[in-house]
Amino acid sequence: MKKNDLKNLTLEEKISLLTGDGNWKTAGANGKVKQAWLSDGPSGLRMHNPNNVSETLRATALPTCHVLSYTWDLALCYEYAQTIAEEAILNGADVLLGPGVNIKRSPLCGRNFEYFSEDPYLAGIMGKTYVEGMQSKGIGTSVKHYCANNREFDRCHQSGDVDERALHEIYLKPFEMIMEAKPWTVMCSYNPVNGIYASENKKLLNDVLRGQFGFDGLIMSDWGAVHNPVRAVEATLDLCMPYSPRYAEEIPAAVAEGRLSEKQIDERAQKVLDLLNKCEEAAPLKKVTGTKESRHETAVKIAREGMVLLKNDGVLPLTSAKKVFVYGNIAKNPFISGGGSGKVKTDFVQTPLHTLIGEKTGAQIEYEGANAWEPFWRNIYQKAYEADVTVITVGHGPETECEGFDRSSIRLSAEQEDAILRIAAHANKTVVAVYAGSAVDMSRWIDAADAVVFAGFAGEGVNEALSDLLCGKANFCGKLTETFPLSLADTFKGGATGDGEADVYDDGIFVGYRYFDKMKKEVLFPFGYGLSYAKFEYSNLRIEKKGEYDYDVIYDITNVSSVAGKEISQVYVKDVSAMVHRPEKELKGFSKDFIAPHETRTVRVKLDFSSFAYYNVSLGRWYAENGWFEVYAGGSSRFLPLKGRLLLEADEKTQYSVR
Ligand code: GLC
Repeated sequence: MKKNDLKNLTLEEKISLLTGDGNWKTAGANGKVKQAWLSDGPSGLRMHNPNNVSETLRATALPTCHVLSYTWDLALCYEYAQTIAEEAILNGADVLLGPGVNIKRSPLCGRNFEYFSEDPYLAGIMGKTYVEGMQSKGIGTSVKHYCANNREFDRCHQSGDVDERALHEIYLKPFEMIMEAKPWTVMCSYNPVNGIYASENKKLLNDVLRGQFGFDGLIMSDWGAVHNPVRAVEATLDLCMPYSPRYAEEIPAAVAEGRLSEKQIDERAQKVLDLLNKCEEAAPLKKVTGTKESRHETAVKIAREGMVLLKNDGVLPLTSAKKVFVYGNIAKNPFISGGGSGKVKTDFVQTPLHTLIGEKTGAQIEYEGANAWEPFWRNIYQKAYEADVTVITVGHGPETECEGFDRSSIRLSAEQEDAILRIAAHANKTVVAVYAGSAVDMSRWIDAADAVVFAGFAGEGVNEALSDLLCGKANFCGKLTETFPLSLADTFKGGATGDGEADVYDDGIFVGYRYFDKMKKEVLFPFGYGLSYAKFEYSNLRIEKKGEYDYDVIYDITNVSSVAGKEISQVYVKDVSAMVHRPEKELKGFSKDFIAPHETRTVRVKLDFSSFAYYNVSLGRWYAENGWFEVYAGGSSRFLPLKGRLLLEADEKTQYSVR
């Protein structure tokens, strides 16, 4: 096996390795080393044709990562990543530029659809599993965007000013957790963090990522995120993407003037060679077992598990409806992703939602697309009035949720809100299906709907999955991994996007449900919420001590309905009396369990040191204070019927400044 070796390279060739060859390849050092191909994106291969980079290859459009996260299913997450890896193998890509694990601090962020959660533990465990799945197939990953890239507004210039505690407990936590999976690369973000660009932020890249988190892979820039090659090398950024001529101009001069040493160049170039060697050594893992059809079925399966039933008065499933009216262009042309580098080009041809509902229920189907022409409405009202159930498809797509800009509102368009209200006023029963990539403020119209389904940006299998769920061919189990607020004004930052200089993270650690809990605010739908056609009851929580910080939380879940279903139960922990401010509760474990009708399942969730610790800035590390902790278990962050408590009594030597 030819090892790409530093010894064979001149200084000029080593320097050439520190930036790309064009937009998508690492450099070849005059043919002396292999070149790796880097390709987007987190929810499917978005690869530019090596022979014609203006063309994007077709691939399977899996549900975007927010829908994947709503499955709370680590096995599905692993399979999801392997599915993408197979198409990377088939097309010759070596590193997949994902997962995106930025925290959903604002529901406005244009790329929320690409990310997992507002909760760092959930984002971390999903991201770790994604990396394990992808790399199990010999395809590298690039965990992004490191860090504090939590909105798109002015992402290349506005500094994320984040305090140390919030940085570690919220924004860095997913990256730290993912290190366990040994990601081949990490991608730094565009923005400055506390005033220093991420691409040249030595504290974040070297001291934290490499030093504290033990990352030993390659750090690449986001595309065009390097502002100063010399400072980037000093900060231990290894690879500037895409190709930048400034490296050949400025780095040799810096070495000649002693501002950079050859040792620094060697260290960075070695990381590139290590990546190339990983690509070659991984060859035996690159096995494709699936087909285009099986990968499509995986997309459908994950969409089914990730859609969320938000409201249902019993109108769903559509098993008894004889006449169903479906309204909206989205039924025919569903939004399957947001816009930007995460958008996959699929050649899958959609079957309209209403066609699939007709096939799966045998009901008589009427359909109308959207149309602003006023006389058109009488026809709509009549169809709604004559139907047993009306299904209204709404949402927005890449023109609203996209890389490069944030939403300006979290509501549907006025036309769509009006359509829901107008049609529901004439319908016998109204079901609203929302195709969107992040939280939607439904408060103006939700009372008019008898059922609401959040389909999300669910990939090419969206209509097959949604029709299965609406018609009862499958049961909902998805649960939200981000809070749906009552309004944008109810969130910490509201519509504020920063002043173009700094976005001050003065919400600190109180992000997502942590914020709404602290402020004791009502929300439209809480973190961890989702309904099922089944009904689950919780009982009998007990806690078993297994070690100084190791506890098992055990509880029973009974399916008290006649419908089989999967329940995603969650375990939250509260530090009853800390010497620092801490959230009301924090997610520290979950379980997803299939439970047959009238069956009781005993669930066991493990807690460890990380379940109790907070990041202590004075100590510069994670630290758990002795004392009482409360443990809650239930079906969402706002439905926690079970409560227990435990007393941490770690060895006194581990405690500091005890009152
Ligand atoms: C983009 C994105 C990043 C993507 C890269 C390559 O600007 O921020 O997520 O992987 O550039 O397209």
